[in-house]
Amino acid sequence: MRYEVVLPAAGSGKRMGAGKNKLFLILQNKPILIHTLEVFQNDANCTGIWLAVKPEEREYIQRLLNEHHITKVKGLPNGGEERQHSVHSCIKEMEQVDIVLVHDAARPFITNDIIASLVECADVKGAAIAGVRAKDTMKKVRDGIIVETVDRDDLWMIQTPQAFQFDILYKAEDVAEKVGFLGTDEAMLVERLGYPVHIVEASYDNIKMTTVEDLVIGEAILRKRSQ
Ligand code: CTP
Ligand code: MG
Repeated sequence: MRYEVVLPAAGSGKRMGAGKNKLFLILQNKPILIHTLEVFQNDANCTGIWLAVKPEEREYIQRLLNEHHITKVKGLPNGGEERQHSVHSCIKEMEQVDIVLVHDAARPFITNDIIASLVECADVKGAAIAGVRAKDTMKKVRDGIIVETVDRDDLWMIQTPQAFQFDILYKAEDVAEKVGFLGTDEAMLVERLGYPVHIVEASYDNIKMTTVEDLVIGEAILRKRSQ
C-alpha cells in the first residue's frame, strides 16, 4: 500500500541544547535527519516525502539531500511556530493521496515493518498511530500529591508515525486551524472530530531524540542493529 510522508523538521531543539537544530547532530557518521529520511527513501511503498523546514535552513538541508541521494522529497515548505503548523504547511501543499503519514524527523529508528502495519491499518480503518505500553506505574499528581493511580493496562505512550486517510487528516487540520485548536499530535485533531483512532504496537527503540541522553541511547541502538 502506497503512502506519502510528512516530516516536520523545523524545530529548534531547545531541550537538546546543542545551539542548533538537533536534526543536524551526527549519529554514526550521519545527521539524525538523514537517518530518518533514509528509512522512507528505501521504502518502496513511500511515493513522496514532504519536509517542513526553517527558511534559513532550507539551503543546507537541500545540500544534505543531494549529498545523501534522498530523491523522494517533493516539497520543503516553511515550518511554523508550532509543530502542528509545520505539519499543516506540508498538508496544504500536497496533492490528494490515499494515505498520509506524519512522522517526527527526530525519530530516526522507525522501521519499515511498523510503517507497513500503520499504513495497512489506516487504509482499512481511517486512522492509526504508533505507541508502546507504559512500563512504569502511572499516577496522576496535583500539587505534589498523588490524586490517583491510573490503571496501567489502559495507558500507552504515543509516538509517530501517525497514519491517516488523507481526507480525514486534511479535514481535521482545517477545522483545528479555523477554531484555533492546538494539539500535541495529529491524532488529537482527528479524535476531536469523533473519528476512532487505532493504535499499532510499535517499538521502545522508536525514541524521539529530545535530550542529550537520547544521543547515547541512539548510538547504542545503531550499534545493536549493526551487530
Ligand atoms: N518541529 C517542527 N516545527 C516546530 C517544532 C517542531 O517541524 N515548530 C519538528 C521538530 O523538528 C521535530 C519534531 O517536530 O522533528 C518533534 O518536535 P520536538 O522533538 O519537540 O523538536 P524541537 O521542537 O526541535 O525540540 P524542542 O521542543 O526541545 O525545542
Ligand atoms: Mg518542540
